[in-house]
Amino acid sequence: MPNTVLVTQSLPDQYLDSLAEHAELDVLEADQHLSDSALAMRRAACHGVVCTLTDTIDRDVLQDMENLEFVSSVSVGVDHIDVSALSARGIAVGNTPGVLVDTTADTAFALLLAAARRIAEGDRYIRDGKWTASKRWTPDFFLGKDVSGSTLGIVGLGPIGQAMAQRAAGFGMTLASWTPSGREVTGVRSMPLEELLATSDFVSVHVALSDTTRNLIDGARIATMKPGAVLINTARGGIVDESAVAAALDDGHLFAAGLDVFEEEPVPADSPLLKHPRVVVVPHIGSATASTRRKMVDLAVANAVAALRGEPMPYCVNPEVYTSL
Ligand code: DGY
Repeated sequence: MPNTVLVTQSLPDQYLDSLAEHAELDVLEADQHLSDSALAMRRAACHGVVCTLTDTIDRDVLQDMENLEFVSSVSVGVDHIDVSALSARGIAVGNTPGVLVDTTADTAFALLLAAARRIAEGDRYIRDGKWTASKRWTPDFFLGKDVSGSTLGIVGLGPIGQAMAQRAAGFGMTLASWTPSGREVTGVRSMPLEELLATSDFVSVHVALSDTTRNLIDGARIATMKPGAVLINTARGGIVDESAVAAALDDGHLFAAGLDVFEEEPVPADSPLLKHPRVVVVPHIGSATASTRRKMVDLAVANAVAALRGEPMPYCVNPEVYTSL
């Protein structure tokens, strides 16, 4: 009997065709979720999963997947997958590193500029008919925050953090960083997180979400940020305490925030963040360009095809599963 691969979201035909050369495909409908109880039999039958970051693969979901041999996610982040549970069963998990670095850094820098210069707020102001003869250009009209000449604190100096540093250097910003690995990069002054938060005009988050980074930027740390600072998050929602950000904006401690990611996605309509005019929000589109998404799917399919051929995945987050066989 051929292997079955459960594909959680429909992919362009050419990708489904290459997977179909190696396995039978079971593609979920748009309104179906991997964890749906009605899908228990389909979960049990599958040997591999091709998923995205919206599919939670935790111990509950894994319970009835006794035939599972690999998971390939169309994402670089794998916080939606219980990797240690899969590693314990010798199951390889693939991801898509490298190909979304510049696209995500572009988004982070776009949010930084938009938050600093109140771009989304200005757009809404005009569309809402508020730009009138009596409310127009004056020396103090719609003042923002200088980007050039200010300090950017980068939390997490992996490839995306470094790409953010390159962009910021082009804008004449001074660069500071704190990173869990202690990595040093020329032109970026590394320092303790507390010092970075206290001295940076802009703080941009680029660490992966893990047990050690969950709630890293919590209320206590936000309180130590430089007054009038701007917080940017294109990493994962769970790293930043959203209610503390909203409170710090309300009391004027933070000037603005630019957010691509949220603790709960889609962000609930009643989130306090959405009430604040200086929060620029976008719906997790950090990597959303056609060419980058194509490259991500290319890697995810290459990972799945390798696994179906019995070869190691080229991009595997738990390669120890191959050596511990
Ligand atoms: C990822 O791949 O983890 C990104 O969040 C997608 O934008």
